[in-house]
Amino acid sequence: MAALTMENPLREGIRLERTPDPCVMVIFGASGDLTRRKLMPALYNLSRERLLPAGFSVVGFSRTEMNDEQFRAAMKEAVEQFGEQGPVDREAWESFAEGLFYLSAHPGHPEDYASLSSLLEEVDRQRGTNGNRVYYLAVPPSSFAGIVQQLDAAGLAQGEKGWRRLIIEKPFGHDLQSARELNQAISKVFHEEQIYRIDHYLGKETVQNLLVFRFANGIFEPIWNRRYVNHVQITAAETVGVENRASYYEESGALRDMVQNHLSQVLALTAMEPPASMGADEVRAEKLKVLRAIPPLVGDRVNSCVVRGQYGPGWVDGKQVAGYRSEPGINPNSTTETFVALKLFVENWRWAGVPFYLRTGKRLPKHLTEIVIQFRQAPLLLFNHTPTDQVSPNLLVIRIQPDEGISLKFNAKQPGPAVHVRPVTMDFRYSTSFGMASASAYERLLLDCMLGDPSLFAHRDAVETAWSILTPILEAWASQPAPSFPNYAAGSWGPAEADSLLQGGCCWRQP
Ligand code: BG6
Repeated sequence: MAALTMENPLREGIRLERTPDPCVMVIFGASGDLTRRKLMPALYNLSRERLLPAGFSVVGFSRTEMNDEQFRAAMKEAVEQFGEQGPVDREAWESFAEGLFYLSAHPGHPEDYASLSSLLEEVDRQRGTNGNRVYYLAVPPSSFAGIVQQLDAAGLAQGEKGWRRLIIEKPFGHDLQSARELNQAISKVFHEEQIYRIDHYLGKETVQNLLVFRFANGIFEPIWNRRYVNHVQITAAETVGVENRASYYEESGALRDMVQNHLSQVLALTAMEPPASMGADEVRAEKLKVLRAIPPLVGDRVNSCVVRGQYGPGWVDGKQVAGYRSEPGINPNSTTETFVALKLFVENWRWAGVPFYLRTGKRLPKHLTEIVIQFRQAPLLLFNHTPTDQVSPNLLVIRIQPDEGISLKFNAKQPGPAVHVRPVTMDFRYSTSFGMASASAYERLLLDCMLGDPSLFAHRDAVETAWSILTPILEAWASQPAPSFPNYAAGSWGPAEADSLLQGGCCWRQP
């Protein structure tokens, strides 16, 4: 990625206005997968691009026995393996690595927090970080509350000098009740303004562009409502299976893993009203109103509006793959869903009666996330050579990943003496229009947290509201006989029942 040069004016312009205070990031779970795959590559890139404050430091806190040098070597290896911005630059790495420290420690031992406190004071002295701290909980959620209490007991959660912020990773609870309990436990120690619940979808450039697309253009907003929109589809399809996350995924399933967080957030951004300003509170308030307007599915509506699935063996990307129940670490009789499709409604003046179809699944034929706005048909068809049902609806497709961009499908006259109507597409692609790689979602979000900007983080109310929509579905499933899984072959678009969710002869876009 280009550094801060005039080749990169957009980024330069935005970033130069925003430099975080010198600070230390304490990573709990520093020897884990998330730190290696996402956090270190993102922090290193930020450092290489000189977007981090002077003296920025990391303190790794984990049980694995290591000293600073071993931690630095392990992190370098991680950046080499998982960084997406080419080979590691020696000079840039050395300058970044000077700020990496490590503490072999147990998250349940109070004395280890005393050691952490001394180490942080030492880092403050050496590197001028002034008591500013980000605590990143890259650990299983069962450890969140314990760590937060220990930070409090050790006097590390609040302080006279500097600011303290806490980043937590999903899952934020397992259902509404547990989410409330977790929020309560954390809020006894940290104020809501100090808590940053990370949802990496919100850090994706294309998701942020959704607001620019909607509110920096005058032409879309007037038709962005029930008068013109037939329905909305949001798809997050993955070709990968459960990978090496069996124990997490068995407990989670697709609804908790993807819908509670990423898809709910995307839905909220798609459906929200224009905020009074782009301030964090204003945007988050509008998103919350959308979620609050979605009536939870209860009773028979769970079965008529939700389809769950689990992949059996099949073929993906030309390779034969095992079914979910035969994956390592998975219960051979597992009833965990790896696919879910839902029909939801946003019952407000803008959207009443417009279905929002959401679907996500593993081992689908393509890796892609997109939002499709399908507009209503023209009121009558004047071109008799093409029957009405053969005229394609206008589709606005917002491709979140990969091949990021936006396309609009409309009808045109096919050249020739007769009037035959055929669909054509206008296409915008990030790669050709901007010709620059966007920062990874983690880069953006880590930087925003250091800057104290919570706009792209999930607020407590949104998390709990999303759970209140989904918990009745989980409860209904739990009370029903075990589903007959597997019910879709790996490499297909999920169970056939997902197609019948769409009403009025509509169908899922199959890219
Ligand atoms: C994570 C889920 O939050 O998002 C994973 O836990 C999923 O199961 C991933 O694979 C998808 O993220 P992305 O950015 O690849 O769409």
